[in-house]
Amino acid sequence: MIELKNITVDFDHVIAVDDVDITIEKGDVYGIVGFSGAGKSTLVRTINLLQRPTVGEVHVLGENLMELSPKALREKRKEIGMIFQNFNLLSHRTVLDNVLYPIRKSALSKEEKRTKALRLLKLVGIEEKADHYPNQLSGGQQQRCAIARSLASDPSILLCDEATSALDPKTTKQILKLLKTVNEELGITIVIITHQMEVVKEICNKCAIMQEGKIIERGSTLEIFSQPKTPLAKEFVETSTDYGETLEKVRKNLIRLKENEVLATIRYVGESATEPTIHQLYETLGVTTNILAGNIELITGTPVGNLIVSLEGKRENLKAAKEFMASKGANLNIVGGIHGVL
Ligand SMILES: Nc1ncnc2c1ncn2[C@@H]1O[C@H](COP(=O)(O)OP(=O)(O)OP(=O)(O)O)[C@@H](O)[C@H]1O
Ligand SMILES: [Mg+2]
Repeated sequence: MIELKNITVDFDHVIAVDDVDITIEKGDVYGIVGFSGAGKSTLVRTINLLQRPTVGEVHVLGENLMELSPKALREKRKEIGMIFQNFNLLSHRTVLDNVLYPIRKSALSKEEKRTKALRLLKLVGIEEKADHYPNQLSGGQQQRCAIARSLASDPSILLCDEATSALDPKTTKQILKLLKTVNEELGITIVIITHQMEVVKEICNKCAIMQEGKIIERGSTLEIFSQPKTPLAKEFVETSTDYGETLEKVRKNLIRLKENEVLATIRYVGESATEPTIHQLYETLGVTTNILAGNIELITGTPVGNLIVSLEGKRENLKAAKEFMASKGANLNIVGGIHGVL
């Protein structure tokens, strides 16, 4: 659906995007994550050629956009909607007129356009605001209006650049839910730029992490959350779960380890329920587990558990615990305790 090949964007020696390849498939909700200045907006703007790459190829919906005539490109762009952090609505037009704007020149009759715009306003849940002006709406309502406007020209792709960054957490969830509906019910492929892993966790099936113009890690959301590889991916994942912070707190304040006790983390993915595994750890190796903190989240429908535990047992059995847990599909890491042994 979208294939970017060897994309580089060079702004007078500022390399905003550095040799990026990315493939986004039909039906994906694809997250692009990174800190400010990583090049996310620049990369996404190459998808509709709002930003022409210095080097590389942009293939969208089976066509090489760089080879299209200006007229053909204008037509193609109608298939690619876009929404932004600050909504970008036309302030002197009503909500209804904002939605009508992209289809003002379409072949539909005046009545058909109006019916369509009202149907879209209903879809996004603000039909009663049709005659209001943008400054009479809340941020969430303005973004709903922007989504309706982006859908007016029946796009196959929707690009979202920090679309929820200006909204409070509750409104963010509502907008994400709406985007999920747009993806599932209208079959629209969505690309979401964000610096919030919560957004990725909530609705993306795949994601890529950008740093200094490059994609340094990518995969299914489940892979990234359960096995982040690069330090930056780990940082994003841990911030979104508060896991790293909790571990530090436990390490510093909570726990006085006994002589035969270690501090450990257990990460597991899927239904491999920990209760029986922890029980088996005791039955097989005589190691007792004390759960100190933890969280279990559903990532694209699969449970991902992160537990912080203390383990107590004989030295050699504590050593064997890691292998035992691995045989049960869980990843155990000893992070503190019996000095230098494990
Ligand atoms: N039009 C431009 N001219 C010159 N430099 C630019 C231009 N647009 C972006 N840049 C530079 O390119 C780099 C990447 O910018 P970009 O806006 O893509 O980052 P971003 O990841 O979207 O950041 P943010 O999260 O802050 O929106 C930055 O160093 C920025 O200063
Ligand atoms: Mg940006």
